[in-house]
Amino acid sequence: MFFISASLLFIASGIICGPARAETFVTNVVRLTEQAGSIAKPIPKGIAALSVEFCYITDYLGDVNQPNSLSRSLLQNIEDIAGAPPVIRIGGHTQDVAWFCADCPQTLNNTFASGNDEAIDVSFNKDLFTVLNENVPARQEFIFGLNFGRNDVSIPLAEVMAAEKYMDPSRLRAYELGNEPDFYGPSQRPRPWTVDKYVAEQEDWLNQLGKKTGKGFSIGALAQLPIYQGNFSLAEITALGLPEKVDYAVSLSDHTYPYSRCDPEREAQVSLPGLMNHTAVVEYFSQWTSEIQAANDAGIPFLMGETGSVSCHGKQGVSNTLGAALWELDYVLHGATIGMSGVYFHMGTPFYYSMWQPVPYNGTAATVYPT
Ligand SMILES: *[C@@H]1O[C@H](CO)[C@@H](O)[C@H](O)[C@H]1NC(C)=O
Ligand SMILES: *[C@@H]1O[C@H](CO)[C@@H](O)[C@H](O)[C@H]1NC(C)=O
Ligand SMILES: *[C@@H]1O[C@H](CO)[C@@H](O)[C@H](O)[C@H]1NC(C)=O
Ligand SMILES: *[C@@H]1O[C@H](CO)[C@@H](O)[C@H](O)[C@H]1NC(C)=O
Repeated sequence: MFFISASLLFIASGIICGPARAETFVTNVVRLTEQAGSIAKPIPKGIAALSVEFCYITDYLGDVNQPNSLSRSLLQNIEDIAGAPPVIRIGGHTQDVAWFCADCPQTLNNTFASGNDEAIDVSFNKDLFTVLNENVPARQEFIFGLNFGRNDVSIPLAEVMAAEKYMDPSRLRAYELGNEPDFYGPSQRPRPWTVDKYVAEQEDWLNQLGKKTGKGFSIGALAQLPIYQGNFSLAEITALGLPEKVDYAVSLSDHTYPYSRCDPEREAQVSLPGLMNHTAVVEYFSQWTSEIQAANDAGIPFLMGETGSVSCHGKQGVSNTLGAALWELDYVLHGATIGMSGVYFHMGTPFYYSMWQPVPYNGTAATVYPT
């Protein structure tokens, strides 16, 4: 059982979108696409992608001169088959507590509070960039999450300047300023915290950060479901002109999890048959029509920039099953048909929805999950 179903996902996208070896298959897909009429578009090559919770990135990739060999060979397998490994976004809640510390001795230093699997403080030194440069296959790219949550522009400025100095530019696809800013609490931004304030701050900060880099930024990373988000949406953000104003916006993104176990009411609704129900996938994704349209109108790709089966780190027996792997295939391919350019599956060492657990944890050896 070696990486069977996660590879299914990447290999499926690799075969559909991949290099010459899959020519006949591609020819057939192109023919099908043509038959489907003018609204059909090719499936983007990077449609299946990964997101790693910032505080677990060295669990996944190892340390300087000590690559995590499981992660490395899984990613290398995909590169060998599909031409490139999945893009990895490094982010999540812990990107908003992370900071570059030039003088710190550790590659990554997490501080945890008891009962919380997400670090409450994360510092890193330049060795983290050596890890990102060296411990991955040749064509690995990252979206690097910057800290917007601490409400201090000097933190992301230091992060960008360090990445520009120490990171191989070919590794860096884009930066992302802030994780789920629409859900920021009062400790992150004074009330009221509204979409127009967000847009004004992003414009100001991105202009400062943009002076330090030639790379672009992925905008948004919004958490709320479109049916509940009101005007804190990509549609409003583009209507307010942010992507044009900053002129180095390279993508727009939302996050979502079809189920949640963040509270008992929602946890009671989690079910594998519900997750795997194709009609439910189609209905669920139909909420994103105006968000995807906003990205199309702005002329930049829409990403489902962080996702998984069940929020609050997945559910045992649902998230880590072959059924969930089949759901992932259906979810990604349906996302592609409605105009998503990338679907980024989130991972963390203790999270049940991870595609693999990179290091020993809680008495279990490093392992590849069915997903
Ligand atoms: C790790 O971070 C914590 C919290 O910022 C700090 O107190 C501690 O000294 C750091 N450890 C090292 C080895 O730098
Ligand atoms: C967004 O909606 C809120 C409340 O519904 C309203 O007060 C605000 O003016 C709206 N902002 C924009 C930029 O439309
Ligand atoms: C699948 O989902 C649809 C839409 O939510 C629902 O109407 C249908 O009953 C579900 N099917 C099963 C077998 O649960
Ligand atoms: C750790 O493993 C034990 C025994 O398998 C399990 O009951 C417990 O839920 C696990 N704890 C976590 C945090 O995963």
